[in-house]
Amino acid sequence: MKVLGINGSPRQGGNTDILLEKALAGARSAGAETESIVLNGLNISPVQEKEYENVNNEGFSVVDDDIQLVYRKISGSDALVLASPIFFGSLSAQVKIMIDRFQCVWVAKNVLHKDVFPRRLRGAFLCVEATARADFFENARSIVRNFFAIINAGYYGEVFCPDVEKKGEISRHAESLEKAFELGIKITSG
Ligand SMILES: Cc1cc2nc3c(=O)[nH]c(=O)nc-3n(C[C@H](O)[C@H](O)[C@H](O)COP(=O)(O)O)c2cc1C
Repeated sequence: MKVLGINGSPRQGGNTDILLEKALAGARSAGAETESIVLNGLNISPVQEKEYENVNNEGFSVVDDDIQLVYRKISGSDALVLASPIFFGSLSAQVKIMIDRFQCVWVAKNVLHKDVFPRRLRGAFLCVEATARADFFENARSIVRNFFAIINAGYYGEVFCPDVEKKGEISRHAESLEKAFELGIKITSG
């Protein structure tokens, strides 16, 4: 069982990072092999709305930047934990740019009728914010659910941690960290 963490925060050692690492620790404790990628360290250009010309035989974008690495890592995983801070009531730009680059997969699936992700993945979502706005988390969740549907990932659960702003502040939120650990176990064990 391979569990891939995708960290959508620009702040390493920040709240998203800590929460994601806790979920991956939970996955490892249940026997999974884990790996994480930091979107902020990748060069992924925003989608250009040329999916019909740009889709390759596999159903991925032909635009040769670091999204290729993301496609490969997701394809080679059994489960995915996507983590993002709330920025302006939504996912971080890093996560949104990545998600938009899966529009080729949408075209491949719905127009070309190709099964790009034939294997059912397991998906989980982690999110943090400074305030306690439930509507922001709900907004982010709805985008992530949409993304998971495109990549054929079941939604195994989520951890939303409000009231964290400063870097690393989430370390004092033991309950959220515990929930992330448990979610890591759940996504591994099925
Ligand atoms: C550009 C930007 C926009 C933000 N927008 C929101 C917001 O709309 N609502 C909120 O509650 N927090 C907002 N925040 C606060 C972050 O969600 C919060 O500090 C979070 O803990 C950052 O996670 P990180 O440490 O993983 O980067 C924003 C922060 C930044 C930098």
